[in-house]
Amino acid sequence: MENTSSNKIPATLIPGDGIGPEVVEATVRVLDALGSPFDWDVQVAGMAGVAAVGDPLPTATLDSIRARKLVLKGPLTTPVGEGFRSSNVRLRETFELFGNVRPAKTLIPGRYQDIDLVLIRENLAGFYVANEYYIPVGNDPRAIAVSSGINTREGSERIARFAFEYAIKNGRKKITVVHKANILKKLTGLFLEAAREVAKEYEGRVEIEDMIVDACAMQLVLNPWRFDMLLCTNLFGDILSDQLAGLVGGLGMAPGSNFGTDTAIFEAVHGSAPDIAGMGIANPISLMLAAAMMLTHVGLEQDAQRLRVAIDETLNTDNVRTRDLTGQASTLEFADAVCQRLRAQ
Ligand code: NAI
Ligand code: MG
Repeated sequence: MENTSSNKIPATLIPGDGIGPEVVEATVRVLDALGSPFDWDVQVAGMAGVAAVGDPLPTATLDSIRARKLVLKGPLTTPVGEGFRSSNVRLRETFELFGNVRPAKTLIPGRYQDIDLVLIRENLAGFYVANEYYIPVGNDPRAIAVSSGINTREGSERIARFAFEYAIKNGRKKITVVHKANILKKLTGLFLEAAREVAKEYEGRVEIEDMIVDACAMQLVLNPWRFDMLLCTNLFGDILSDQLAGLVGGLGMAPGSNFGTDTAIFEAVHGSAPDIAGMGIANPISLMLAAAMMLTHVGLEQDAQRLRVAIDETLNTDNVRTRDLTGQASTLEFADAVCQRLRAQ
């Protein structure tokens, strides 16, 4: 059933860089098979923005997001070491998208089975403020590099409350606060203190524990089932969310979403994968699952569930898989197989 344009939900679509346009095309195809719930305004950012209008975050893109408040986004390339600041980070800052939700759920049993975790990452503060400078010594202008992280009590309480509310809404039982408060006693100590304070409001409903980040990384390998939700500062959340992706088959299986008070951006955890860009072999499941989160967000839970089921059937009944999952399918062959499943439902 095709929606008429009048009842479609306005949203911004950013194809992105590298494998972005490939996984976005695949995802739009499966959304079309679901009845095209969204009315897309296609905009550029990242290297594509630089190439098109000389700006990694063009005004037209920002205006579109400001008006529509709902975005599906492919990955954006950020130069390493030098060059422009990450458009992803700037988008999160501009729209105050403080809460990053990254679920990791087993779809195909591999090294691990029955993984069902959700990582909540503080998205605006910590070391990502990237307040950095060099100190010259002698004739070396870059002899010393300095970076200061910032966490606020207000921001830490806000993300903690967001995590606890997510737990209540989604029937989660335990939140592990990840920190390094033994060394970064103030920066991550304040984050932990704020989480403990907020946890009191949820006593008896959601359990809280805390763990030092390095121990957490090891526990995630040895016994990931002991966790339910992880609440992380920005940098640790970035690192551990790739690790969680590794527990469920890799970066091709990991969706993410960034929430503010009125705007939400849905994307994959992975980046633009320059090593496989343009080859048509990227796994589009991360972005498809992000689209499912987007459907849930706008109240189309039934469509979200249909999409998740179709992905599951394509993987496990039809055995259609991309190469990262040791299959043969191309990005669009996988998408078409999901479409077929959706039409058969
Ligand atoms: P990456 O996530 O792009 O790639 C890491 C590895 O995973 C590569 O070997 C890649 O081929 C593989 N991979 C990633 N997604 C895949 C998929 N869907 N299917 C199959 N294989 C996949 O990380 P990398 O290479 O460190 O970063 C590349 C660029 O992406 C950088 O410019 C970085 O700043 C940017 N980036 C952007 C993000 C975003 O837009 N949210 C997030 C992470 C990185
Ligand atoms: Mg990352």
